[in-house]
Amino acid sequence: MRLDLSGKVAVITGASRGIGRQTALTLAGAGATVVLTSRGDAAEAVAAEVTAAGGQALALAADVSDAEAVKRVIDTTNERFGRLDILVNNAGITRDQLLLRMKRDDWDAVVATNLTGTFLCTQAVLKTMLKQRSGRIISISSVVGQSGNPGQTNYAATKAGIIGFSKALAREVASRSITVNVVAPGLIDTDMTRDISSDAQKNWTSAIPLGRLGTPEDVAAAVCFLASDAAGYITGQVLAVNGGMYA
Ligand SMILES: NC(=O)c1ccc[n+]([C@@H]2O[C@H](COP(=O)([O-])OP(=O)(O)OC[C@H]3O[C@@H](n4cnc5c(N)ncnc54)[C@H](OP(=O)(O)O)[C@@H]3O)[C@@H](O)[C@H]2O)c1
Repeated sequence: MRLDLSGKVAVITGASRGIGRQTALTLAGAGATVVLTSRGDAAEAVAAEVTAAGGQALALAADVSDAEAVKRVIDTTNERFGRLDILVNNAGITRDQLLLRMKRDDWDAVVATNLTGTFLCTQAVLKTMLKQRSGRIISISSVVGQSGNPGQTNYAATKAGIIGFSKALAREVASRSITVNVVAPGLIDTDMTRDISSDAQKNWTSAIPLGRLGTPEDVAAAVCFLASDAAGYITGQVLAVNGGMYA
């Protein structure tokens, strides 16, 4: 089965590197026009990669926790491309610390990007999708939101929050043929996990039945499936891409 996203327009947040970058490349490879966002101008290089491969892409700077910046991205997408079919809420950060030592700033920053960012971007695309009577909203959670992890209470709370948010919204918008799903990656080889010591990585890997870290491609393939017509009857679900580390 080849997944065909020709004619679709997708917005991917946090697309300058890692999972977001690969998701943009994969969706563009399936034929979608992709709008890539990140805080600075680093997504421009990814947009150039898409264009060089014959795809259509636009990079826009926006912090997902800034409602005005998010609105600008969605307005520009609608103006430039006349529609908006797929939103991938991918932008995310960690500020790990044991709860007793966690600063209020570490809590607020993670909630603002991971959870409030998901709320703002989703709310901003909804009007267009409701009008179109179709849409795909896919948010990137984490195995940590399902299983918990010491030192990540802030991150786990946001990633579990994304699951509840998506399940509630799936019920709100199903009658307009908009699906809302979550992808929950395990340990994926990106900048986010490169700081983990090699001993800790070995420990983690031994807990992964498939015996390796995941790749951004593994996650992007799941997103692409959920964005496609093939997943039209799937909503309110969490698709784990974790090598079996949590089932
Ligand atoms: N790697 C893993 O093992 C793993 C596992 C489970 C879930 N996840 C989730 O997968 C998503 C992507 O993770 P990753 O590993 O690819 O991380 P990454 O390599 O650190 O990339 C994070 C991306 O998010 C962007 N970003 C961060 N804060 C932002 C903000 N406030 N507004 C807009 N963009 C922002 C970054 O762009 P700029 O810095 O250029 O703004 C970058 O493009 C995250 O939600 C993460 O929680 C990752």
